[in-house]
Amino acid sequence: MSEQEIKVPDLGGADEVEVIEVLVSKGDSVEEEDPILTVESDKASVELPSPGAGKITKITVKVGDKVKEGDVVGMMEASGDAGGSDDSGDDEPEQKADEKAEEKQEEKPAETKPAAKKSSGGSRKETVTVPALDGFDNVPIIEINVAEGDTIEADDPLVTVESDKATMEIPSPYAGKVGKILVSEGDKLSEGDKLLEMTVQEDGGEQDEASEEGEKPEPKSEDKPKSEDKPKQEAPEPQGSTYEPPAPGTKVHAGPAVRKLARELGADLARIKGSGPKSRIIKDDVHAYVKSQLKQAQQGGGVATGSGIPGVKLPDFSQFGEVKREAMSRMMFATANNMQRSWLNVPHVTQFEDADITDMEDFRKAQKAAGEKKGVKMTPLPFLLKACATALAELPQFNVSLDMERKEVVRKQFIHIGIAVDTPNGLMVPVIRDVDKKGLWELAAESAELAQKARDKQLKPAEMQGACFTITSLGGIGGTAFTPIVNTPEVAILGVSKAAMKPVWDGKDFQPRLMLPLSLSYDHRAVNGADAARFTSVLSQLLGDIRSLLL
Ligand code: COA
Repeated sequence: MSEQEIKVPDLGGADEVEVIEVLVSKGDSVEEEDPILTVESDKASVELPSPGAGKITKITVKVGDKVKEGDVVGMMEASGDAGGSDDSGDDEPEQKADEKAEEKQEEKPAETKPAAKKSSGGSRKETVTVPALDGFDNVPIIEINVAEGDTIEADDPLVTVESDKATMEIPSPYAGKVGKILVSEGDKLSEGDKLLEMTVQEDGGEQDEASEEGEKPEPKSEDKPKSEDKPKQEAPEPQGSTYEPPAPGTKVHAGPAVRKLARELGADLARIKGSGPKSRIIKDDVHAYVKSQLKQAQQGGGVATGSGIPGVKLPDFSQFGEVKREAMSRMMFATANNMQRSWLNVPHVTQFEDADITDMEDFRKAQKAAGEKKGVKMTPLPFLLKACATALAELPQFNVSLDMERKEVVRKQFIHIGIAVDTPNGLMVPVIRDVDKKGLWELAAESAELAQKARDKQLKPAEMQGACFTITSLGGIGGTAFTPIVNTPEVAILGVSKAAMKPVWDGKDFQPRLMLPLSLSYDHRAVNGADAARFTSVLSQLLGDIRSLLL
């Protein structure tokens, strides 16, 4: 046993970095390369690896401390020949941390050096066994990732196991050819169990590149999966939308820790450009990729690589004449994103219908004096609200949201309806709650109040949430019909255009009737066409004879 200092290795150009996590404590046993600290520069966060195997005797830094190359961050007792340089899948010869680790090994007395096997220039057979599984044992195999005859790299996943807490890939400690597979899916594995046989090439390839003298410490199958993040020369490349992913079937070069991270974040490694040696994907690449995808999604524009939809490239408009640019308001930007999200996610269909509102309008106009007394103006909107609430109760398949992730339909047991309000700042959709329980005057007062609040920018977030359905009325403005966009996650929206007198055939003659154009857009995943036609005919009947609203 000999005590050695744990020093900060070459930080790839970074001067001083901050300790953001201390990953070990006094008394911990570590393998060579196990992460000791996570440090962060302004460009990247990296894990500092242990220079050897042994027991931590002291950690001299804490979170928030600043460290630089050569600083001592702790002490450890080297564990004789048990640790050594076990850099099995070393396909990162350029990594400075690795070089440091190798230098350290050379400084050690001969007896602490790892058992190194002279290259025989041929191949040898190895039986790969299960490494330490982070405290788990008896974990079932859920996937075998290789087949007999496959040529694989060191660190390529061999099998995936799943405990009740986590899914882990067991990486190959060698590069070579897969021989007999000794396990099957469903088998339960513990440390030391035999996994498969491999033919390992002893010369050429990446292993020789990594070893200056053509000697390579023999990889040990019981090595723990290693951290992929090591100090590196540069920050990861930005994961922009310009990156062309490799052709299907191309092998992704990433270690188990990175694969695990990608799985946790739902990132497709095949789409990520590796910034490590030999284009190896490192954790920072995964983080950068996820960040860029989120940014793209939030911006909702540009080249939406993830959705596979080509973006619109803007020409230089100034070549055609004078232009002025101004920043979008937050509301305009949010509306644009919502519209695009809904348009891209929802298969829209619009059902049209005309409702005869001649009698309804006579009744509404007759309420003028009563309205003046109450200080409330009765417009067609409260009738539309009431009719929609009745139709939603009759056809509850319109009062749902789809949870595609959980493969569930959320059926709402309440009827809250949003009304689209045109304001100088853009479109806002306040929500009237429990429309089915309210009378026409109450609805008239509430919709006028909410519309005014929207125009005065006084709406609270809660007043714009929880709608089951939306009405967008352009009737006060004009138009004969339009196709509104569903206010997702609702599944339908009613567009109302301007009522107009039309000749309607009564069986004997054409009668002048006031017809109200209705445009019901719906999410065809949730609602079928027949139900949409039913919904608009229910509306048309209710508005055609408002006495039925009382029933
Ligand atoms: N046909 C004919 N006239 C109509 C009508 C229709 N479908 N709907 C309303 N009107 C009339 C009203 O009766 C009123 O006339 P009056 O003053 O002679 O009585 C006039 O148009 C104005 O009505 P309005 O003040 O707009 O009240 P409303 O209750 O009908 O509508 C809002 C309230 C908030 C819906 C409406 O003001 C609004 O903002 N609409 C725009 C919504 C929008 O931008 N949607 C687009 C989403 S993409």
